[in-house]
Amino acid sequence: MRFKWSKKISVGDVTIDKQHKRLLDEILVLSLLLERGQSGNHIEETLGFLDRYISGHFTYEEGYMETHHYPLLDAHKEMHRQFAVEYEAMKREFAMGDTLAFQEKVNHFLGQWWVNHISHADQNYHEYIDAHPTSHPEGEPERYHDTIQKA
Ligand SMILES: [Fe+2]
Repeated sequence: MRFKWSKKISVGDVTIDKQHKRLLDEILVLSLLLERGQSGNHIEETLGFLDRYISGHFTYEEGYMETHHYPLLDAHKEMHRQFAVEYEAMKREFAMGDTLAFQEKVNHFLGQWWVNHISHADQNYHEYIDAHPTSHPEGEPERYHDTIQKA
């Protein structure tokens, strides 16, 4: 399976779309490096990049959902937190030199998680924000509260 961003999984925000695209590109790079039996240095660099990029992305995305008063923000944050736990476990496998287990995780956990997360969980806030114009920061707060109570 190849991990590639496409317009179909756009979340309606240019910055987040760019981040998702970059993330999937880097995961693909990691997967190809492993497939080609590349040295640990390249892989470590890519992992280090992903570390920084993913935490920056989560912070940005959570701020975006908060700004738009997304009601399922806490549940979404929890998904991000669980990802981070599994990602740390995956990095430990690499550090222990278990290349096969690591490769398996890159393809079946890392890549799959991001494709699924962007295609489902992230689409939920996209749909919510599109359907609730009052959730926009410039919207009217009173109407926003009515919308939430009816939801
Ligand atoms: Fe997310």
